[in-house]
Amino acid sequence: MEDFRAHAEDVVEWIATYLEEVGQLPVLAQIEPGDVRASLPLEPPEEGEGFETLLRDFRDLIVPGITHWNHPSFFAYFANTGSGPGILGEMLASALNVNAMVWRSCPAATELEEHTLDWLRQALGLPEGFHGTINDTASSSSLYALAAAREQGLPQARMEGLAGGPSGVIYTSVEAHSSIEKAVITLGFGTHGVHKVEVDELFRLDPGALRSAIESDLATGRKPLAVVATLGTTSSGSVDPVAEIAEVAEAFGLWLHVDAAYGGPAAILPELREHFLGWERADSIVVNPHKWLFTPMDCSILYCRRPEMLRQAFSLIPEYLHTDDGEGATNLMDYGISLGRRFRALKLWFVIRYFGVLGMAERIREHIRLGRLVGGWVEEHTDWELMAPVIFSTPVFRYAPSARSPEEQDELNQNILDRANASGEAFFSSTRLNGRLTLRLSVGNLRTTEDHVRRGWELLTRSAEAASRV
Ligand SMILES: Cc1ncc(COP(=O)(O)O)c(C=O)c1O
Repeated sequence: MEDFRAHAEDVVEWIATYLEEVGQLPVLAQIEPGDVRASLPLEPPEEGEGFETLLRDFRDLIVPGITHWNHPSFFAYFANTGSGPGILGEMLASALNVNAMVWRSCPAATELEEHTLDWLRQALGLPEGFHGTINDTASSSSLYALAAAREQGLPQARMEGLAGGPSGVIYTSVEAHSSIEKAVITLGFGTHGVHKVEVDELFRLDPGALRSAIESDLATGRKPLAVVATLGTTSSGSVDPVAEIAEVAEAFGLWLHVDAAYGGPAAILPELREHFLGWERADSIVVNPHKWLFTPMDCSILYCRRPEMLRQAFSLIPEYLHTDDGEGATNLMDYGISLGRRFRALKLWFVIRYFGVLGMAERIREHIRLGRLVGGWVEEHTDWELMAPVIFSTPVFRYAPSARSPEEQDELNQNILDRANASGEAFFSSTRLNGRLTLRLSVGNLRTTEDHVRRGWELLTRSAEAASRV
């Protein structure tokens, strides 16, 4: 144990210094594919090695191949934060190394998960009745939600499979995250089982088009099962009109799943609640604390108003897992595919207690302010175009000098992105909106200040000037 203590001190010291200095490292790993593997021995060590050597190789071989999500100028995808309390919670969880399959295999992990998620439900302004479980990612959470929807609409599928049955359909917008389509494929409905509904000019699912889509599928004998609305789409941050969508889903008796993986934490802010009106009518909601709630990877919450449907879809109890702990004992294995479960609630509990609801709101509010600030700079600039209103913290925009054709503008934007990312000063990602290459600047890191977003924006405008000269 003396050795363990000494090495643990070295590790903690490394982490603390890293977090202090990460802003001085290149954000995007400055290496080529294969470089990391080429630096490692081809064969495993015959004999055990000293921990000092492991830590040295971690520093020298692994860290240079890291893209630093902790960097305050990480603006790609959806930026996130492994906050101090979250990291420490993760350390303790890994030390405890429990597996909360059933209540008795770790009562505290099971109950803390239910309790912490109930706290967060309150902070998000959701009514009682939503039962939360933690999964690794939103992709899993949405898969489980849609499996529950399949259970509702096609209960025979669990026993008989899908062959010979009606073809199930899940509705979502063309702007929905790819995880929804993946879930539908995984559930056996194929890509044809996703009916992608058109969006309006602000990239929001059109409820009228949704209604027509359901009616036309019904007319051809298909089986509508679920609707997925998104609060904070990946490409534009748009917010689907969930109250109107709930009307349609209810009219046809369909499961309503809300993908708030990114946008969800913003519901903590009273002034943003208007964007969430109607989400309380959903059957299930996914929110990812590992995106915008300061919790280290991975932690995705599935809130479900009808948890019995999840159990109906997933519960399967072999003799070796049978327990008799009574009604009050939740067995988390009944809510999804995985039997084994990490103690993820601990880090989230730490995060919520350390910041408090007001503290979390204050930080999210600041990220939104920064996102909108960038949006304002884009709008002030004649050669740049803001592609969507900035509702949360991710402005999306493109360089669009009027003298260039849309195709030339696309090339310019790709060039700007490549130049800016190669600099190592900041990291941005891109998408396509209305078919045009679009840059994204996502604010979600606790270390990001106004100075960082200003420098990020200046890097882009400088890159645009350089790209225009070639
Ligand atoms: C709106 C939305 N839903 C779902 C996901 C998938 O998240 P995860 O990586 O947790 O599966 C993302 C990822 O960015 C997303 O933006």
